[in-house]
Amino acid sequence: MDWGMKNRMSRIIQPDTGRAVMLALDHGYFLGPTHKLEVPKETIDPLLPYADTIMLTRGVLRNCVDPGSGANVVLRVSGGTSIVGPHLENEGITTSFEEAIKLNVAGVGISVFVGTEYERQTLLGLSELVNQGEKYGIPVLGITAVGKELEKRDDRYLALSCRICAELGAHIVKTYYCENFEKVTTSCPVPIVIAGGPKLETELDVFNMTYDAIEQGAVGVDMGRNIWQHEYPVAMIKAIRGIVHENLKPKEANELYNEIKQGKAA
Ligand code: 5RP
Repeated sequence: MDWGMKNRMSRIIQPDTGRAVMLALDHGYFLGPTHKLEVPKETIDPLLPYADTIMLTRGVLRNCVDPGSGANVVLRVSGGTSIVGPHLENEGITTSFEEAIKLNVAGVGISVFVGTEYERQTLLGLSELVNQGEKYGIPVLGITAVGKELEKRDDRYLALSCRICAELGAHIVKTYYCENFEKVTTSCPVPIVIAGGPKLETELDVFNMTYDAIEQGAVGVDMGRNIWQHEYPVAMIKAIRGIVHENLKPKEANELYNEIKQGKAA
């Protein structure tokens, strides 16, 4: 691996722990002003110090993130469809590699929609990004998207999608946690991070999912709504960091969350 690629990978997966806390803020690219991300800067600023990387689009990056903040960026470079359109899966590449380089990104991310009418175009899109990424030393995050079909999130489907991403050259894969998750991680030869999915009922549910994913081979999270749609987003991200980087158990993370929430811990 070339120096530039290694350097960027180490901005995403922290060399001291081998783990990653990515904060997903890209939802607006197909959902518009999502709940609690209506004014992105207000949501992003307090969380920035606790995210190893932020994942978002060029528009929100340029307009809502201070370039002097020191943020490491994984740029969402796919899109072109919306939640109200006919085919959410019909995505293309939205952002050129030159622009990603200009924005000094740590990596770029693209969704693939395996098993849909658009699997070929999205998988070839991933492949094209990898071609460019290898040329310029920029890691590519393959995202195994399921669109509106959340029920697709089982080990068989996710293992298939993750493995295809890795085979096509993705440097990291983002997927969902599921039962029998170890099947997904063991058959994917590149690091896996998990999305959080829609907001879960309790904090402990989020901590359990994060812990179980790490225990079963994920290197971390690329999480959004379960952090910033929560009433105490800073307490959430700090507790998740505790699991990812300090091996806290879910119960310990929950205690940390409660202490931060009650102002008993920083
Ligand atoms: C959409 C995405 C989102 O970034 C992803 O779903 C992560 O966010 P959340 O934890 O809210 O699910 O990649 O395709």
